[in-house]
Amino acid sequence: MNVFKCPATIAAILVVVLIVTTASFRVRAAEPAKPMALQGVMQQLDRDMQAITGAIATEDWASVVRIAPTIARHPEPPLAEKVRILAWLGSDAGKFRGFDGQVHDAAVNMGEAAQRGDGQTVIAAFADVQLRCLACHQDFRKPFAEHFHP
Ligand code: HEC
Repeated sequence: MNVFKCPATIAAILVVVLIVTTASFRVRAAEPAKPMALQGVMQQLDRDMQAITGAIATEDWASVVRIAPTIARHPEPPLAEKVRILAWLGSDAGKFRGFDGQVHDAAVNMGEAAQRGDGQTVIAAFADVQLRCLACHQDFRKPFAEHFHP
């Protein structure tokens, strides 16, 4: 006997298919929005900046030399997330990237000053980095959070 000709079997298969599809839909709907990778990047920047503060306090320039490049060349979110962020930024993308470039340049200056053991310039560059963090946050942080994880 061909089971696919038996109405009871067909009905049973349909019910199973229906249950499986509804279940997977329900799981997807209940899934919380995945945290953005950018948030992890920011949290690492925060830890690195705090580590630099500690190193400055003890004039541990070797640590500044080591950490500054990780701030300058922090990881970027995966491509798919970058595309979403860029789409959201629209014509502000240049401004956003500009702030990131300024953080990069200031962090490079900080590392170079630390290499020379030039504490005053390290501290000035540190303030410069922090000011660029602030500038981007003032323009983008709140609208970003409201858009991507309200
Ligand atoms: C180009 C823009 C930009 C620059 C530059 C920038 N940030 Fe951010 N930062 C953001 C955005 C956007 C958010 C909000 C992310 C979110 O809500 O998911 C954020 C959020 C954060 C947060 C909060 C993360 C959390 O857990 O919610 C910290 C901490 C942070 N940034 C630290 C820094 C530090 C330190 C620097 C400088 C070294 C910096 N940021 C530079 C855009 C920037």
